[in-house]
Amino acid sequence: MEVESRKKMKKTHMGPKNTWEGFFKDKTHGGHRYSSEEFLAMEAREKLFHLDGGKTLLDFGCGSAELLTYYAPEYDQLLGVDFSPSMLGEASKRISQRKCNNIDLILADHETLWENLDSNFDRITAAGVIQYLTFQEIDDFIAKASEYLSTDGKIVFFDILDPRLYPLWKLGVFAPNAGLLKALYRVGCDFQSSILSALKNRPRNIYGFTHNPYKIQKIANKHDLEMRYIQSMYYEYKYHAIMGRVPEL
Ligand SMILES: C[S@@+](CC[C@H](N)C(=O)[O-])C[C@H]1O[C@@H](n2cnc3c(N)ncnc32)[C@H](O)[C@@H]1O
Repeated sequence: MEVESRKKMKKTHMGPKNTWEGFFKDKTHGGHRYSSEEFLAMEAREKLFHLDGGKTLLDFGCGSAELLTYYAPEYDQLLGVDFSPSMLGEASKRISQRKCNNIDLILADHETLWENLDSNFDRITAAGVIQYLTFQEIDDFIAKASEYLSTDGKIVFFDILDPRLYPLWKLGVFAPNAGLLKALYRVGCDFQSSILSALKNRPRNIYGFTHNPYKIQKIANKHDLEMRYIQSMYYEYKYHAIMGRVPEL
């Protein structure tokens, strides 16, 4: 299998532990607004701006490496982590095609990841992933991530669903053809898909949970990290959370 052939590719857990792992087990793309390389390159450029340097990077929930391969030229060493074998299969192909020899991949989740690390990272990032974790899991993730963060390192969570804007986006408020009838139609479709997915015991869509930025900030502060949040450039209903250690006086 392509995934297995990847240099230093490690496998650290077996079988879906939760509904999200089941949901992603056969997915092959990260659900970006557009799948064109032109759009992915623009998204990656915005993210690289916020990552703001560093030499080593861990991308948690790297998916099919749609962003990771754009990060590669800017870093010495990168590690992509994901719990979906199909995503990592695509990632492996993409990494080979683009000859990104500085990327390793690990099949692991937010809990099993840490037991495979033997060095610190300058940047620990996740794009469009934190919405699949509960607040407790985010808390545990930040605690662990700060153990593996270089002194001047940063933890950067990109594209978290903002509970204040997501409902408006779902109603189509940001769409060019916004209107009351369209909004009612969307509510109806959403209701129908909620019922169907509840009956089938699977997630309603790829979007996951919304997380209030102030709650994430509280968790960050608890772990002695400062956090600022900013609006995502390409997704009106998402924000980025940028964390770093509080400087000593
Ligand atoms: C929406 S996709 C984004 C992929 C990638 N970051 C990107 O922007 O192209 C979310 C990814 O996170 C992974 N994921 C979600 N929860 C995870 C967890 N607890 N542990 C590891 N991977 C996870 C999924 O398998 C999926 O590949």
